[in-house]
Amino acid sequence: MNDLINEINKLRKEKNAVILAHNYQIPEIQDLADFVGDSLGLSQQAAKTNADIIIFCGVHFMAETASIISPDKKVLIPDLQAGCSLASTINAEQLRKWKEEHPDYVVVSYVNTTAEVKAESDYCVTSSNAVKVVQAIPEEKKILFLPDKFLGLYVSTVTGRKMEIWNGACHVHEKIGDVNFDDARKEHPNAEFLIHPECGCSSSCMLKSQLYFDCKNIHIYSTEGMIKHVINSKANEFVIATEVGILHRLRKVKPESIFYPLSENAVCEYMKMITLEKLYNSLRNELYEVKVPEEIAQKARLPIERMLSIV
Ligand code: 13P
Ligand code: SF4
Repeated sequence: MNDLINEINKLRKEKNAVILAHNYQIPEIQDLADFVGDSLGLSQQAAKTNADIIIFCGVHFMAETASIISPDKKVLIPDLQAGCSLASTINAEQLRKWKEEHPDYVVVSYVNTTAEVKAESDYCVTSSNAVKVVQAIPEEKKILFLPDKFLGLYVSTVTGRKMEIWNGACHVHEKIGDVNFDDARKEHPNAEFLIHPECGCSSSCMLKSQLYFDCKNIHIYSTEGMIKHVINSKANEFVIATEVGILHRLRKVKPESIFYPLSENAVCEYMKMITLEKLYNSLRNELYEVKVPEEIAQKARLPIERMLSIV
């Protein structure tokens, strides 16, 4: 393994490549990356990097987003099969039809969408800025929100904005909703519960805690929001409701604390497709390039830039 890591380090310098990794990546990839973060942080890094090559250790829509905002860079993903079940719940044709049915609405798309869907959208959001972006949309505008129904409900609850919400979900986060939340709270009475808004349990948690912001030990956050919360919290036990890959990073930032996954089965097989071997192959052979055609990229850039200018 050390030989592989040495080779990767040599190649990344030779080729002026930056390695970006999502919080759900396997520990070996996180430890090697130049930057580890959530969807928003990763797109901000992609926008400002001076590297010639961006190696995206994440899933396909994230690499596409990097290609859209940094069209002059070579964006690589080590495995082209690394997709996203949530992004697959809506395509551009379905969105066009939905828009036809709601002609005077603005379209707010979660970043977990294809470039073609972004090209049909007015605003892009991530889990860490969705509330802020929706609050920035003029009050009189009606909103189509897609594709995640749990994130949509969360944003609508916090902002008080009525929205039409697409019926999509992530297969990993939706299933976390099957876990008995009350049992988990009894099992860990001193723990803080940190919940990703894509989770099936996030809506019931909002209701149980009389809207999440009134509740002292249940918090709804993006993956990076969880990291920041843990760093600043006085608590020493945390129950984490999202993909389990984030536990590695949480344990690194606060080794003295105990972290429990709400569901050990919350594993995104797409995020686990990137291995050190594939990363090495990607760097060495400059594979697999993700390049969004300029005609689509031009349209998709607008909602992403709107988002980046609001946060
Ligand atoms: P974050 O933006 O919170 O990292 O979420 C991305 C994602 O795909 C969650 O499943
Ligand atoms: Fe997509 Fe869900 Fe995997 Fe995130 S955890 S990348 S939303 S399938």
